[in-house]
Amino acid sequence: MAIPAFDAFRYAHAHRRQVAWMSQNTNHLVPPQMIRESVEEALREHRYEGYPYATGDPELLELVRADLGLPGLTPFLTSGGTEALYMIARALLGPGDEVIASDPSYLIIHRFIELSGARTRNLDIYAPPFRLTAERVVEAIGPKTKMILLIDPLNPLGSGYPRSEVRAIAELAHDHHLLLLNDVTYRDFSHEPTLAAEFAPEETVTVWSVSKNCGLAGLRIGGFSATPDRVKALARFNTNDLGVNVLSQVAALSALRTKPKWIGEVVRQTRANYDRITATVATVADVTVPVHPSWANMTILDTSATGLSPEAIQEEMLRTHGVFVRSGNYLSPTHGNKFVRVSFSNPPGDLDRFATAFPETIRTLRARAPAPAAA
Ligand SMILES: Cc1ncc(COP(=O)(O)O)c(C=O)c1O
Repeated sequence: MAIPAFDAFRYAHAHRRQVAWMSQNTNHLVPPQMIRESVEEALREHRYEGYPYATGDPELLELVRADLGLPGLTPFLTSGGTEALYMIARALLGPGDEVIASDPSYLIIHRFIELSGARTRNLDIYAPPFRLTAERVVEAIGPKTKMILLIDPLNPLGSGYPRSEVRAIAELAHDHHLLLLNDVTYRDFSHEPTLAAEFAPEETVTVWSVSKNCGLAGLRIGGFSATPDRVKALARFNTNDLGVNVLSQVAALSALRTKPKWIGEVVRQTRANYDRITATVATVADVTVPVHPSWANMTILDTSATGLSPEAIQEEMLRTHGVFVRSGNYLSPTHGNKFVRVSFSNPPGDLDRFATAFPETIRTLRARAPAPAAA
């Protein structure tokens, strides 16, 4: 009988109280009190008994608009940025269309693009500067190109786009009459947060989320912002006609109201944690951190020179040490067997556990690996 593959997520959820969750770029540093108080109040008021105001709490929509800082963009709420990405692909793409994208990338978006009948043209970015450049994008534009996918900062590499590059790519979209899908889920961690919509407001659809910056991934709330006409066109594909979860809206509202007070400390701790990860990895032979610095709350550890599989590293880290990192295979068809991704908006105690677990894992797996056959 075949041995069933290890289900890391099932295991991690079953042991969630013991697990240091460093696998999904989630944020465990936001002060929980204001979220708890607002959701508790909504529960006391039984707000879950009624539907939310379908288009979203007006104050929440205003806060989203102010947070992005572009008053001309109309925000639309969805159940996480994921739903926004799905709607955009379905509404704006069709068979024969091409989207310029990258490998590695957040491949769920590529899947949505393919569902619409379009295809992605993936530029290999597993080499410096570990992101797209306007030069490479312009070379890739062809007669079928309909959209550019600009994820900034980029999951999984943690690389980000300087303002000048965002501007150059946005201007390309404008000049070539292309759509620009600008996913800014990790924007608050960036060293130079820039919205492409600033330079190409008509062409750009901005996808945002409170999953990562506000630590609300489990509540599933995010959205897109675009010009009013574009929002109307996208809204035809809305399945959440009765509105986004009322408790999620309450939590997002209180997070965005208070964000200026705590986001600085969240980013400071996240960057300090990146330094601890690089210091740990520097002690491990044959493992490197290729992208410096991280512009997000994640990075990749290139383990290819160890000869170990990222899945084996993921499993050993999780089962033996309760530290959940993610193998790269779901993030890159070409390079996914070379890296694990680690996210680090985590309390320092989780970093202590990583600092012990990672070197030990590599040692253990190497000791277990069969010796190479003699020539
Ligand atoms: C680039 C990117 N976009 C969107 C999402 C989805 O975010 P949400 O939790 O808002 O659905 C993720 C989640 O990891 C992501 O990495």
